[in-house]
Amino acid sequence: MRILVLGDSYCPSERFRTAFARLDGASVEFDDLEDEPGWRPETPSERRISEVLGSPEQVIARLDGQEILVVQGAPVTDAVLDSAPIRLVAVARGGPVNIDLQAAAERGIPVVTTPGKNANAVAELTIACLVLLARRAVDAIRWIDGGGEFALDNYEGARWLGHDLAGHTLGLIGFGQVGRRVAARAAAFEMRILAHDPYMADDLVREGGAEPAGLDALLREADHVSIHARLGNDNRGLFDARRFGQMKAGATLVNTARAELVDEAALHDALVAGHLSGAAVDVATGRVAGAAHPLVGLPNVVVLPHIGGATVDTLETGGRLAAAEVRRFLEGQPLVNVANRAALASLGGPSR
Ligand SMILES: NC(=O)c1ccc[n+]([C@@H]2O[C@H](COP(=O)([O-])OP(=O)(O)OC[C@H]3O[C@@H](n4cnc5c(N)ncnc54)[C@H](O)[C@@H]3O)[C@@H](O)[C@H]2O)c1
Repeated sequence: MRILVLGDSYCPSERFRTAFARLDGASVEFDDLEDEPGWRPETPSERRISEVLGSPEQVIARLDGQEILVVQGAPVTDAVLDSAPIRLVAVARGGPVNIDLQAAAERGIPVVTTPGKNANAVAELTIACLVLLARRAVDAIRWIDGGGEFALDNYEGARWLGHDLAGHTLGLIGFGQVGRRVAARAAAFEMRILAHDPYMADDLVREGGAEPAGLDALLREADHVSIHARLGNDNRGLFDARRFGQMKAGATLVNTARAELVDEAALHDALVAGHLSGAAVDVATGRVAGAAHPLVGLPNVVVLPHIGGATVDTLETGGRLAAAEVRRFLEGQPLVNVANRAALASLGGPSR
């Protein structure tokens, strides 16, 4: 069976080479797409996908009869699926937003994903943000970078009096791969952990070391709120002025999930009013050309350029998890993480 491993500017196929080197009975080809920032979705299939790197035309040009397509950010549309005898798509990310799952299901093609590939990295960054916010460390760093005097005496830290994480309450919004790992790490910091996830059974939340909580109660009680929900139609703009108003005075917000979950103007206002004492966002909306981003430079606010999952380890883990699914497919074993399982079942299962 022929496999095409298609990398992109974020995750070059080179990162997958070791993982795909030992697949018996398969011939593996590696190629990479170039960025195509000017590409805009036009067809209905193209409009069903997002967060793509490259364009469908580039993918089509690189397919040459392969039956298994492995991607990270490459777009996989109906036209892509019709351009080769594809029997399996493996996407090395948790949310297969760059794949037209509906088109794949209609063609009987399973789409497998690699849930949790980023989870350790994002969880570690979340903990780092919590420590930075609780200790006002970013302001202290800015002070020194700005020429502020230091090493004056043993008591100068009084200026930056913060809080421990130990003994304080962390509220997690979303208890999936990342949320659960944040809980494990926060437990080691001796935090009390609440979690709100309307799609997760309370027992699973408790098994993960958190107390299940309604959103209102969580916002009332948490000293730090950290967002780990997947973006869906039910939670766009979930954190708006009303939700910030429900948070404890002096609480902080961490968002390493998706920018669209937060109304950034409302977050700005809650920070400037002093109701929130700090925030860290790894997923801000882009700045308007020529204008300053409203959150950048605010006291005790950390803005990061979407580095949550950006580690060498996550890319290689993605390759390993994708290769494991491909191996199962080649050996006729059941696939584990099939993103379009329900649609495939309702349409009669894999056909190719
Ligand atoms: N910053 C980064 O680089 C980076 C990297 C990886 C993932 N992410 C983002 O982090 C988030 C978590 O990723 P994950 O791998 O844990 O996803 P996941 O799918 O494993 O878990 C997401 C959880 O969110 C829950 N959820 C959905 N809607 C919700 C709502 N309205 N309120 C509360 N919970 C809700 C789901 O039930 C699920 O348990 C996602 O938004 C993902 O896009 C960011």
